[in-house]
Amino acid sequence: MKSKKNLVLVGMMGSGKSTIGYLLSKKLKLKFLDIDNLIEKEMNMTIKEIFQEKGEKYFRNLEEKITIKYLNLKNSVISLGGGAFNNQIIRNEVIKNNFSFWLNCSNSVLISRIKKNTKRPIANKLNMIKFEELMNKRSKIYSKANFKINCNKLSKNEIITKIIELYENN
Ligand code: S3P
Repeated sequence: MKSKKNLVLVGMMGSGKSTIGYLLSKKLKLKFLDIDNLIEKEMNMTIKEIFQEKGEKYFRNLEEKITIKYLNLKNSVISLGGGAFNNQIIRNEVIKNNFSFWLNCSNSVLISRIKKNTKRPIANKLNMIKFEELMNKRSKIYSKANFKINCNKLSKNEIITKIIELYENN
């Protein structure tokens, strides 16, 4: 089989990278790689435990190493952690050799989703204002992805169809 570029999903916590990535991989018959899960498997610890016991700097180094390793595979749908695209080494690698999609959602959608789950160490520390500040800062970075998908008014199926159209026509 001819090897195909990876589809890489970027975006804020709660934007649906893991859910959409998994469904997309089934539809396209590609492997699905969720980088946060792969980090947890490698360390045998949850992301929350890694932040608590080893600190954020340790997590970011590990995230870089593991993300770069998996970006080298082909024929995969890869969902990045919400902060990974901030890392210039990861970003350059994603942009150079992959199709990247920013799953863009409004702050209110993101906040309502992440409030339901306390597994995210970065989100747990943020109040509404800090979350908006982080989103504003990160939006400039996420916008460097090849394509921006405005997810607010779209169903999961519509998001997937849009991504596949862009992937197949580019
Ligand atoms: C993070 C997002 C998380 C995870 C870690 C840090 C961030 O991934 O990598 O908690 O900095 O935004 P998700 O976007 O999959 O929640």
